[in-house]
Order: sequence, then C-alpha cells, then structure tokens
Amino acid sequence: MSNISPIPSLFSTPGKIAVVTGGSRGLGLHAATALLLSGCSKVYITSRKAAACEEAVAALNATKGITGKAISIPADISKPEEITRLVKEIEKDTNHVDILIANAGATWGAPYGSWKKEYWDKVMTLNVTSVFMLVQEMTPLLAKNATIADPSRVITTASVAGIKGFSTGPNATYSYSASKAAVIHVTKHLAVTLGPKRILCNSIAPGFFPSKMANALIDIYGGTDQLAKQNLNGRLGLEDDFAGTVVFLSSKASSHVNGVVIPLDGGGHLVGDIFKPDEDAPKSKL
Ligand SMILES: NC(=O)c1ccc[n+]([C@@H]2O[C@H](COP(=O)([O-])OP(=O)(O)OC[C@H]3O[C@@H](n4cnc5c(N)ncnc54)[C@H](OP(=O)(O)O)[C@@H]3O)[C@@H](O)[C@H]2O)c1
Repeated sequence: MSNISPIPSLFSTPGKIAVVTGGSRGLGLHAATALLLSGCSKVYITSRKAAACEEAVAALNATKGITGKAISIPADISKPEEITRLVKEIEKDTNHVDILIANAGATWGAPYGSWKKEYWDKVMTLNVTSVFMLVQEMTPLLAKNATIADPSRVITTASVAGIKGFSTGPNATYSYSASKAAVIHVTKHLAVTLGPKRILCNSIAPGFFPSKMANALIDIYGGTDQLAKQNLNGRLGLEDDFAGTVVFLSSKASSHVNGVVIPLDGGGHLVGDIFKPDEDAPKSKL
C-alpha cells in the first residue's frame, strides 16, 4: 500500500501565512495570487508605493476561489530601518510566518565605460543586501512554527542573468547579473544556516516574463515574439509558470528541497544570448 499523500495536499499551502516583497505587480503579484489560490490564510504584500499595494490587495481579495486575505504593508526595503518597520508591522498581526518570497528587485542598464558606483549600489542594495537583511530579521517569525515535517520556506527571486552568459552593448546590466549570482549564492548559504532551524531556502531564476521591469528590455531585444522564437521552447514565461513554481517550493511536495536554484526559462540559459560585439566598449590596441 502506498504512503504517498493525496496529490492536492502535496501541492497546496493550506492555512499558511506568507510575505511577498514586490507583491504589488509583476512576478510578486503572481506569487501572492498563487499563494492565496493554493490556500494561504494571509498573504502580506509590500512595495514602496502605498497606492499600488492597496490596489493589488483589492484585486487579490477579489480573486475567485480564495478563502484567505491579502494585507498591504508598504515599505521601501532598500532601507534597513524600513525592513525593521515592516517586520514589526507583520508581528502586530501574526506570531509566525511560514513562507517568505523575497522577490522585490531592480535593474540598471548602461554602456560599459559609463558605469557609476551609484548604479551598482542601487541594484546590489535591493537585490542582495535587503534580501539577506530581511531574511535575517524575519528568522524568528519563520522559525516559530517550523518543524521537520512542515518546514518554513524562503524563496528568493533570482534570474537566469545570475547563471548564464551575459548581454553587452548600450543596456548592459552588470550590477544586475552580479546581484542575481550573489542572491543565488547567499540563498544557498542561508539554506545551510537555516536548514537546522527547519527553514528551507531556495531560489527561482526566471528568464524573461513580461512585466514593468522586463518590458523595456524585451523591446530592446526585439520584442516578445522575436524573443519567444529564439527560446528553446518557443515562448517566454507565463503567470502559471511562476505561480506553479512558487506553489511547489512552498508546498509539502518540496519539503526535502533545500538550497537549489530552479531556472525558469524554458531552457534558454543552456544556450545563452547570441553574442554581439560591444560597439561601445573601448577598442583593444592588440
Ligand atoms: N520579469 C522578468 O523577466 C524577470 C526575470 C528574471 C528575474 N526577475 C526578477 O523578478 C523580481 C520581480 O520583477 P518583476 O519583473 O515582477 O518587476 P516589476 O514588475 O518591476 O516589480 C517589481 C516590484 O518590486 C517593488 N519594488 C521595487 N523597489 C522596491 C523597494 N525598494 N522596496 C520594496 N519594493 C520594491 C515594486 O513596487 P514599487 O515600485 O511600488 O516599490 C514592484 O512591486 C525581481 O527581483 C526581478 O529581478 C524578473
């Protein structure tokens, strides 16, 4: 006789409490929607703009088929004091958190030779430092109800930019690719530290998914259709792709998965970008 749990119970998050950074739009909003649809009782979303958070929460709470609720706590998590305030606000409403989706991110594109330190600082601060500081500050909440059988989860949104070949040219994203490689690595380091506290830490590394952040780059690289044609499976990312991966990494089905990165790009990272020489780079004298 099989001891396998009923399959719907392996891929769901009944009664769980989640926090999603960058939850007001794009991939974070897909994650928040998916977590409510899979059974979470509360999903706190955060981003800088209060109005955007409120709008997202209204849409989330109007989603058919959910029993839990979305709650908005706006915060600029690039600032340490705001991370502390965010965690304090969450603590006013709950004594534990089961799932943290550290998803908020930023990018910067500029030609080689014109890069300034501020382009690095902005991206590295939000994409790496704030992820680590937030996980650190939320560890007591995440550890509270975590058990061997039912571990809590940290999921970081990295990018295939952190694991594959790199684009160059006028919109080269040096700090972004470095930040995403760093967040993958720090997530593995957190997996080592937090595994014994029964908190599993994993990364998702998406390829292109249409979103406010990605759309400008998608246009620069020839548009959705062109990029879809170039990808191994003939398309870009869809809401369901991110939703399904978030639910898997938050569910019982993945309760023995710790310290991995899941590339979510139809396999595109295996072949990388088509190399084009960088016209803006200083010419070699050799
Ligand atoms: N879409 C893609 O193709 C793709 C591919 C690979 C990886 N990713 C990663 O996926 C994550 C989400 O990106 P997305 O494409 O969904 O971008 P997006 O639509 O631009 O969403 C970014 C979210 O982060 C929030 N945010 C930005 N700065 C913040 C700050 N300082 N504090 C708190 N929240 C902040 C934004 O809201 P506010 O403006 O209100 O703060 C928004 O909710 C990022 O980490 C990104 O690097 C995206």
